[in-house]
Amino acid sequence: MCGIVGVLGSHEAAPILVEALKRLEYRGYDSAGIATVEDGILDRRRAVGKLVNLSDLLVHEPLTGKSGIGHTRWATHGAPTVKNAHPHQAGRVAVVHNGIIENFRELRAELADHGVSFVTQTDTETVALLTEHYMSQGAAPVEAARQALGRLHGAFALAFLFSGEDDLIVAARKGSPLAIGHGDGEMFVGSDAIALAPLTDRISYLEEGDSAVVTRAGVEIRDAHGRLANRPVKTVQIGDTLIDKGGHKHFMAKEIAEQPTVIGQALSNYLDHEGKIHLPDPGVDFSKIERLTMVACGTAYFACLTAKYWFEQIARLPVDVDVASEFRYREPPIPAGTTALFVSQSGETADTLAALRYCGGKADRILSVVNVPESSIARQSDLVMPIHAGVEIGVASTKAFTCQLTVLFILALKAAQDRGEIDDESLADHLSALRGIPSVIATALEANTEMQKAALKLAEARDVLFLGRGLMYPLAHEGALKLKEISYIHAEAYASGELKHGPIALVDKNVPVVVMAPRDALFDKTVSNMQEVMARKGRVILVSDRQGLDEAGDGAFATIALPTVPDVLTPILYAIPAQLLAYHTAVAKGTDVDQPRNLAKSVTVE
Ligand code: F6R
Repeated sequence: MCGIVGVLGSHEAAPILVEALKRLEYRGYDSAGIATVEDGILDRRRAVGKLVNLSDLLVHEPLTGKSGIGHTRWATHGAPTVKNAHPHQAGRVAVVHNGIIENFRELRAELADHGVSFVTQTDTETVALLTEHYMSQGAAPVEAARQALGRLHGAFALAFLFSGEDDLIVAARKGSPLAIGHGDGEMFVGSDAIALAPLTDRISYLEEGDSAVVTRAGVEIRDAHGRLANRPVKTVQIGDTLIDKGGHKHFMAKEIAEQPTVIGQALSNYLDHEGKIHLPDPGVDFSKIERLTMVACGTAYFACLTAKYWFEQIARLPVDVDVASEFRYREPPIPAGTTALFVSQSGETADTLAALRYCGGKADRILSVVNVPESSIARQSDLVMPIHAGVEIGVASTKAFTCQLTVLFILALKAAQDRGEIDDESLADHLSALRGIPSVIATALEANTEMQKAALKLAEARDVLFLGRGLMYPLAHEGALKLKEISYIHAEAYASGELKHGPIALVDKNVPVVVMAPRDALFDKTVSNMQEVMARKGRVILVSDRQGLDEAGDGAFATIALPTVPDVLTPILYAIPAQLLAYHTAVAKGTDVDQPRNLAKSVTVE
């Protein structure tokens, strides 16, 4: 979380920094700030809340200069106040930071012993003060920054700007991503290539422990041991369409509507012209894999939970699934024959990355399913399977989820094929049904009005339950997560069969219960659980296909009809009502759909 940017340009830096921060706002939006240096004079502006507040401030209090750094904050240490907003300045140095300095208390105590005082509660201020401290002892800016960097524990991406230095940014990366952008006589620094997309498409990525001295003439990068390092300059295609809602009211609505197209894109990347599975090099042979360990966070974790059903049922491959924040510290044994698979939209989630590193050298192979092919998780994997969802801006993940499911389903079919668990005819049937999914989703999106009506009912609730069985169980979790994160309504998901083991005590006429129940092999059992809810005056919103609604829709508070698809593909389709119910509920409640409170899109702190 937190986005950082730096510019050594040939035009005024402030508007460029604000524009770049707009593209980083998905990383946090509690406060924002920029600092520039002009004719050696360092100055800064900071504002609490969304970036627009900083833009407004700059109208009244402009900041000139062609060199600068900027920051959009997701608060970790210290409340979102102007004082705690970045850039933090101490004397001649200003610093922007993404990550957490774990030893900041010790460093503060040490600085306090030297008579240094503090004005913020942040960990970042310590970095600025420490650098200024070394400068006051005679170190030049680059040397002072290096000395300070050598003292820091934790995770960080940092950019330093100095008074008296109109042509210098020092940048460093440990744990949090950082990209260097190469222009013509201009240089840039950014948390990701997206921030820099309108400025340059020539990017080099800092590696773990790297520090960089950036001037308009270029960049000198040193590795963790202080040796000169050559980090390749890559041409990255991102385009300029990012901040366009395409006529939709919210990015989330646009991204939900894009699903038929992006799933189609994912399919065309993994199925060849004969409709056969085609994985990127170096591929993977599942006949040699004895166990698959899948690790992810949030929505990506629910994609993994869904895939577990597919890998186990179709490919007969045992699968463990874990949330990364638990996995990384549990130190699970990784027996020989294990392949580890990490799923992440951003490819930068700190916990998932740490889990991946834990598996390095233990698992036979590291696979990843990511949306950002240049991300840290992708770069540290043996095989990367991009999901081709395109840039996802809405903080609540939608199209990335269905694209993750699509790619994971293809991977499960590949596993079944390699392990001799599926005959050619069934494989062809599954693939043919999968190729039909984009148009089925397009049809499901037409049920928008039904979902809008049901959402009006959810919007009045304080608590909502989601129920599902089998492949609908992870989906129930995804529905509950979507609803809580953007409408702030408390929502919980349960396996339908678990209801009577406790949660049914919650059911009364005030608690809507969303039941995800396609007319699949488990339908009758889920319907029995639904009857138990209705018998206790629970208000059921039943999501099913026409046959399911005809058989069991009577007495439901609301119904949502979806097209019929083969049982195995229901999670991809039923994601649509999970997303749209949450979206319309949030719109009805008037919450901030694209940037819900307290959240950030890319969680680069643990
Ligand atoms: C929910 C959501 C989050 C992310 C989670 C993992 O809508 O977006 O739960 O899924 O933070 O992020 P990635 O996939 O980037 O690792």
